[in-house]
Amino acid sequence: MLTVERDPEPQAWTTRPAEQQPNWPDPGALERVTKELASLPPLVFAGETRDLTEALGRVAESRAFLLQAGDCAESFTSFSAESVRRRLQVILQMAVVLTYSSGVPTVKIGRIAGQFAKPRSSDTETVGGVTLPSFRGHIVNDDAFTAEARVPDPERLLRAYHQSASTLNLLRSLTRGGFSDLNRVHAWTQSFVDATPQGRQYKDLADEIGRALRFMGACGVDTASLPTLHQTDFYTSHEALLLPYEEALTRVDPLTGERFATSAHMIWIGERTRRLDGAHVAYFASVANPIGCKVGPTATPDEVLGLCEALNPDRIPGRLTLISRMGAGRIEEGLRPLLAAVRDAGHPVVWACDPMHGNTFTSESGHKTRRFDDILDEIAGFFRAHAAEGTWAGGVHVELTSDQVTECLGGSHEILDADLDTRYETVCDPRLNGRQSLDLAFRVADALRARA
Ligand code: PEP
Ligand code: CO
Repeated sequence: MLTVERDPEPQAWTTRPAEQQPNWPDPGALERVTKELASLPPLVFAGETRDLTEALGRVAESRAFLLQAGDCAESFTSFSAESVRRRLQVILQMAVVLTYSSGVPTVKIGRIAGQFAKPRSSDTETVGGVTLPSFRGHIVNDDAFTAEARVPDPERLLRAYHQSASTLNLLRSLTRGGFSDLNRVHAWTQSFVDATPQGRQYKDLADEIGRALRFMGACGVDTASLPTLHQTDFYTSHEALLLPYEEALTRVDPLTGERFATSAHMIWIGERTRRLDGAHVAYFASVANPIGCKVGPTATPDEVLGLCEALNPDRIPGRLTLISRMGAGRIEEGLRPLLAAVRDAGHPVVWACDPMHGNTFTSESGHKTRRFDDILDEIAGFFRAHAAEGTWAGGVHVELTSDQVTECLGGSHEILDADLDTRYETVCDPRLNGRQSLDLAFRVADALRARA
């Protein structure tokens, strides 16, 4: 069903304080752009978001696992069909590894087709004595360190919308057509992983899947006519930080009268904008999509219960995903009281682990980076915390790219501080490269097998 109508009602969020919004120099220009956005087609449809809520509901009920992965910030400049295809490919590879070892379905959500806006810890950035507004993602301004580049420009909202539309178009055709066919698991192997231990491990797993498919065929199962073997469900998500952009793309489903964010299937609230009385929580409460909320080391059980009540008062399984991002050293002591409180209150949430954002630091060479071992440690602590509280470690949320960038330290093909400069290409946070991503999938798969 097409969700085509805009909601004429003024929304409660507009009267609440909205943090992390750019200082748009010309409010009239912003208004013209949001009017135009409101007249453009939705990027996703209500029925698809309902399917995702159901899939996440199975995660909340301990019957599936979530893999949410993609860029920290998508870029206007490095956008190409090839880069979208390669990012999808690495996520599909990781999902096959996870599904094969856990025996439960993997729900796949990309940080893609709309993941542009970035919250910043400071409004300004100072380099060599010059202070300029911070870079807030290509949907707002440019990352170049010049006064002109850093001026927020609302025309960028339109460009982000159109880039999201063409990214989604490509993702839809790649996941519906032959590209995601399970018979092609070998073809997803990327040349750079062929020679690595994880590459060989992946090839063995792909061989086993091939044998299983041939076995099913030999037993008389008509595998050619089973769409689940030839297509895959892949969903999009981003941090819905810029509320005027989100509101312009919010539509009412004529079938149910509910409001849906049509900028992505799932949207989440960041760690810096989750205050209970803030505009972001109010906006998210007003839409029916599956939603996420980051939960950092300062979150108290009361705060988290408040978020559950505000964001999922009807206690719909799959509606709310809580994404913890504590840091490797704090994960167990930080997470366990939250797990216990939510469990005791009977809220059916999905718990996912973001092992990236609590482990960022500046290396000696001056690069913002993360250690692969800290990332693995936080995931291990996440599984231990859930085992101790009798709750379901539901998924992982990671920043990655398929390219062989050198942004995170370590991994089996070890990246050292001195290597970071070689291919440090992110416009925001350091991402796992293709090898590290596959490596991580095998480590998470081990944890899933140990749990089973
Ligand atoms: C992010 O996911 O890119 C992000 C900014 O995370 P957080 O809000 O947890 O810091
Ligand atoms: Co990030």
